Parts: sequence; structure tokens; C-alpha cells
Amino acid sequence: PDARPEDESDQGLRVYDPAFQNTAVAKSKITYIDGDNGILRYRGYPIEELAEKSNFLEVSYLLIYGELPSKEQFTHFAHEVMHHTFLHVKVTELMSSFNYDAHPMGMFISGLAAMSTFHPEANPALNSSDMYVRDERIRNKQILRLLGKVPTLAAVAYRHRIGRAFNTPQKGLSYTENFLYMMDHLSEANYRPNPKLAHALDVLFILHADHELNCSTAAMRHIGSSRVDPYSAIAGASSALYGPLHGGANEAVLRMLEEIKTADAVPGFLEQVKQRKKKLMGFGHRVYKNYDPRAKIIRQIAYEVFEICGNEPLIEVAIELERAALADEYFVKRRLYPNVDFYSGLIYKAMGFPTDFFPVLFAIPRVAGWLAHWVEACKDPDTKIWRPRQVYEGEGKRGYVPIEHRN
Ligand code: ACO
Repeated sequence: PDARPEDESDQGLRVYDPAFQNTAVAKSKITYIDGDNGILRYRGYPIEELAEKSNFLEVSYLLIYGELPSKEQFTHFAHEVMHHTFLHVKVTELMSSFNYDAHPMGMFISGLAAMSTFHPEANPALNSSDMYVRDERIRNKQILRLLGKVPTLAAVAYRHRIGRAFNTPQKGLSYTENFLYMMDHLSEANYRPNPKLAHALDVLFILHADHELNCSTAAMRHIGSSRVDPYSAIAGASSALYGPLHGGANEAVLRMLEEIKTADAVPGFLEQVKQRKKKLMGFGHRVYKNYDPRAKIIRQIAYEVFEICGNEPLIEVAIELERAALADEYFVKRRLYPNVDFYSGLIYKAMGFPTDFFPVLFAIPRVAGWLAHWVEACKDPDTKIWRPRQVYEGEGKRGYVPIEHRN
């Protein structure tokens, strides 16, 4: 008798905010962004300072645990992460079963999902729903495994694509050196990656490690709110990253530059963008409306990498595209500036990575950010299962019509 009369147009008070453009869904202490002033800080530290002075594993520790580690904490953490770099042989067999031309991101996502089947803590039938919330030790174990294994999974996806045997992780190398070692199709027993290239990749990893509630991190928090294991949640977050409007943009930028081919074709291409026939990939950002501070740092790294690997001819096209767009009223009015992905693809290309591998190179470091948000959500007493509401606009109640009576 207390039920409200049925009326689809009366759905109570709802906030309609498509794409969460103005909705804060979590309180966080991890990353601060000031989009108008081009500021990005991890746990209070400016991204420029971390890129110059820190390394990716230290930044991962900072993001996940909230403070820079002491020397002992860092040595222990780095040792544990590198200790967890080996994959279960069945995971490598799974990766070997893909077609030779499978997209590496699809392989990577599948490998992550498969990893959930190898760890008893990840079995929902065996864990209690609050296991990850309660038990820091169990959480830490998954963090070490995930940080350790993702570069190996990525390298296996790459090596399978080029039909080469998988390289086992090497002790005594840094995180990024070990990754480059496992990737290299020319690796020999005593092969050591170029330290300058390993450093450049390490800086790129720092810049990509977190970016508050972007599409994939929101997906990580959303999926994680069901208390599923972090392997499955990270497979879901990686799928969100795969899209061309997010982490797939670096691949799309390179394909766009290849299509433009030469600097003198830039005006014609921009005209097509203005006519909305094309999109300027690597430009624009939901939050940065002035400039993306990561793009500035990446631009500098690009030149350092080209000095070693040789100039990437498409850089001329990229520079002209940036110059022309920033001088054009259409793009200025819409506050469209290069984002992190505009130059990263050129660096990856110069370093010899295939274009479709670029989103994987974004996903590896972003795992640190996803884990930081997962831990924060696990510890947050306000965390509940995410369940947005909708505004129903469909039909009112109607009766079922048997198929023989339908027109
Ligand atoms: N090229 C051309 N026009 C653009 C672009 C672009 N890259 N981005 C935005 N615009 C235009 C829109 O058409 C719109 O114009 P209008 O007002 O005349 O209709 C205006 O700028 C505002 O754009 P929105 O779509 O409202 O911006 P939104 O915040 O929703 O999108 C996004 C942000 C998805 C990043 C967008 O700029 C884009 O698609 N960029 C290209 C893809 C890309 O580089 N993604 C990587 C993002 S960074 C990252 O994930 C690491």
C-alpha cells in the first residue's frame, strides 16, 4: 500500500552527468592535476621532478604506498618485484596459442585475465569478499606479482608476434633494462640494453604511471568495487586503455602521421579535421585545457632517443602539425594541445617497437597507478560496489504479443 504509483517519468532525484564530466566518484590522495595550469603531481611531488630524479619502481612504490621508500624499503621492494618476473609456463603456452598476427594488446589482456586462474587468492570461490580489504599481506603479494609479471607478459606477446623464443627475465638488471632485454630480437647471452634508452623508457614509464580517474583507472575502481581479484580487474582496466580515445591514441597518432607523410601535407590534413572528416589524434584532453605537462617532458626525451636511434622522419610532420595547429584559431578556441601520446609513439617507433605494441607500452607502467587506486579503494571505508543510476527513457508498461500476432 505504501508503494508509489507506477510512473516511468517519475524516477526520483537523479544527477544526469553523461561521461562523469562533473561527478567525483572517489576521494583520493594519489595524483593531483590542475588542468588549467598544466600541473601534475604524484603524492605531492611534481611530475617534472620525479621524471628527472626518480625511477619507475620508486615511483610505483610512491604511488601505491604513499611515500618515497627508504633505501632499505626500496632495495627490498625492487628485489621482490624482480623476483616475481617469471610467468607460469601455462601462461606462456596460452600466449603461444594466438595467431601470429594477433594484436599484442589483445594477447596482453588475455594473459592478465588468465593469470587470475593461477593464484588461489584470486579464486572468488576461495576468498571471502573482504579478503583484499582486510589482509594487507595478501594485497602486497598480488602487487609484487603484477608489477613483476606485466613486462614479461608484454615481452612474450611481442616475441610471439615475431616468431622468436621467449627470453627469461634477467637478474641484476633494472626494471626497464630487464624489459628491453626480454623484448630484444637480437639478444645474446651477454646482451645489455643501451642504458640511455633504458633510462628514456624509464622516464616514459614514470610519465604514464598514473593520471587520476582517467577512463581505465575509473574502470579499475569500478570493477575492483565488486571485490574481484586484481588480475581480472586489471584485465578490464587494460581493455579500457586499449581504445583509440585513450591508451590506443599513441598507435593512432603514428598511423595518422604515416598517413600525412610529409610536412607540406599538414595544411590539407588540418582542413579535413576542421571539416570533421578526421580527428587530430594526440591532441585534446578532458582535463588539460592549456597544455599537458607530460607532453613537454616527452618532447625532450624524443630528441635524446633520436640521437641514439637516428632521427625519426615523421618528427618533421609532428613538429609542423603542432606548430600549425597551435597557430590556428579553430584549435586554439577549442583549447586543443598535444597530449602525452602525441610524441610517445615517435619515440617508441625510433626505438624499434612495432606500432601496434604502443598501447602495451602504455599499459605496463599504468599497472602501478591501477594498483595504487585499487589499494586506496580497498582501504577506504566509504568504498561500496559501484552502481550508477540511469534516466530511463524507454517504453511504458506493455503486454507481450505472441510472435504470430506481430506485424
Ligand atoms: N581533434 C579534433 N577536434 C577535437 C579533438 C581532436 N583530437 N578533440 C576534441 N576536439 C573538438 C571536438 O570536436 C569539440 O569541438 P566542438 O565543440 O566544435 O564540437 C571540442 O574539441 C571539444 O571536444 P570534446 O569531444 O568535448 O572533448 P572531450 O573532453 O570529450 O574529449 C578526448 C577528450 C577524448 C581526449 C579528445 O580530445 C580526443 O578524442 N582526442 C584524440 C584522442 C587522443 O589523443 N586521446 C588520448 C587522450 S590522453 C590519454 O588517454 C593518455
